Amino acid sequence: MIKLGVNIDHVATIRQAREGRFPDPVLAAVAAERGGADGITAHLREDRRHVQERDIRLLLQMVQTKVNLEMSTAQEMLDLACELRPADCCLVPEKRKELTTEGGLNVIDHQERIQAAVRQLSRADIRVSLFVDPDLEQIQAAAEVKTPIVELHTGRYAAARNGQQLKKEWDKLWQAAALAQELGLIVHAGHGLDFHNVQEIAAIPGIQELNIGHAIVARALFDGMENAVREMKRLMREAALSGG
Ligand code: PXP
Repeated sequence: MIKLGVNIDHVATIRQAREGRFPDPVLAAVAAERGGADGITAHLREDRRHVQERDIRLLLQMVQTKVNLEMSTAQEMLDLACELRPADCCLVPEKRKELTTEGGLNVIDHQERIQAAVRQLSRADIRVSLFVDPDLEQIQAAAEVKTPIVELHTGRYAAARNGQQLKKEWDKLWQAAALAQELGLIVHAGHGLDFHNVQEIAAIPGIQELNIGHAIVARALFDGMENAVREMKRLMREAALSGG
């Protein structure tokens, strides 16, 4: 059954607004697991704007499911991941000025460097995922660098504002998921998913995991983390059963 990785970055964003001690993303992770999260995702950015190294170290001790460490391909980050050894690592492009991860990795142009990163992490028994746009050539390149997983960037789908755009972006995701599976890759997806658009994505055949942060943390402000996660999982399961 389709799995939900809950991204707790934005709990850390609120904490960092005052550079204080609360709210603690580690406690958010524990609550997310009580609500049914299958994993906890956290993006340790090079600029440390929200999640801190301390959070990852504590998450690795507290999380009962699995930790998915999202990070750039900078050598400093790869070395840190090999020291910390989370179960999963999702490699993303990072720009200092972006509000959030804007696009997928350009695996085609940086094949050698990304292949070296996949190799280094795999040797440390970390399952690697490459965050890529739903572009068939990028999927092909991802398979060539021997990543076991691709996470399809759903941001454009989430930002689509009319039926035609939605259909175009959904078709791209569907085709990318199909090709990835043909090439033997495990398929995850995420970015910009919320309580209204998640079902169409969860219904794409073969997608095994969704990583969702902002919408769940936002809903948690009103309903609590456990309820927010429970509702997201209910929607995902319902869609996967009807579509997948
Ligand atoms: N997956 C990846 C690779 C991401 O970079 C992000 C954002 O940090 C997410 C999923 C979650 O996106 P959102 O917070 O929009 O749900």
